Formats: sequence, C-alpha cells, structure tokens
Amino acid sequence: MRLTPFLITPLFVALSLTPVDAQALNVQKELQKQGCLKCHAISRQKDGPSIKETAKKYRELENGKEALRAHLTSAPEIEVDGKKEKHKMFEPKSDGDLDEVIEWILSH
Ligand code: HEC
Repeated sequence: MRLTPFLITPLFVALSLTPVDAQALNVQKELQKQGCLKCHAISRQKDGPSIKETAKKYRELENGKEALRAHLTSAPEIEVDGKKEKHKMFEPKSDGDLDEVIEWILSH
C-alpha cells in the first residue's frame, strides 16, 4: 500500500495541531509551580486563607475581580507567623494568565 504514508501523515499533523486546550493555563499546576500552594490550599487554611474562603470573600465584593487583580499584582504587605513580608506576586507567562487565575479562584 504505497498510499498509506500520504494518508497517515496528514492525520498526525491534524492531531498535533488540534488545540486541545493547549492554550489554557493549568491554573492549579501553575500556582503549585509558583509556590502559592505552600501557603494556600483549596479548602483549608494554611498560612494564607483557603481558595474557597478567598472566592467567597471576593464574590461578595462588587469590584471583586479588580480587588483580586490588585492583590495579585501589587505585593501587599502580609503577615506570616507574626512576621511581616511582601505577598508573592503572580507571574503571568502570557497575556490572559492573570484573568484565568482570577476566574479560577472565583469559581471555587
Ligand atoms: C508565604 C506565604 C504565601 C505565599 C507564598 C502566597 N500567599 Fe497568598 N496570602 C498569604 C497570606 C498570609 C494572605 C492573607 C493576607 C491578608 O489577609 O492580609 C494571602 C492572601 C492572598 C489572597 C487574598 C486573600 C484575601 O482574603 O484577600 C490571594 C488571592 C492570594 N493570597 C493568592 C496567592 C497567589 C496566587 C500566590 C502565588 C503567586 C500566593 N498567594 C502566594 C500567604 C501567601
């Protein structure tokens, strides 16, 4: 079957080009990588509040998204174990990453 490669190759090309959410940030993985989950867990308090608690708080705010954005981009002063330190900023790898993180937090 001489034709086979001509049939199979386009199939592979098509598959590898399918954008199976390749663009979408895996938020949880990224927060893990950036060290956020050392201090935050989804449902329990660690050094920082849980993601669920944060979601609840910001969903109730009229300007919740903006407030979250401000928190994640301005390194406000926080207290960990009684010591003051600057909060870690989220480091986006590309445009829209921060929006995805904000949406992800609020969806909990
Ligand atoms: C060293 C521990 C630590 C790390 C690392 C850390 N946080 Fe925090 N985070 C805190 C603490 C403590 C607070 C609570 C600050 C306050 O309420 O004054 C907080 C607050 C927040 C809040 C706001 C919660 C609220 O109730 O207002 C968000 C959102 C947040 N962190 C996300 C992140 C993200 C995203 C990262 C990673 C880029 C991260 N944090 C890394 C300790 C940490």
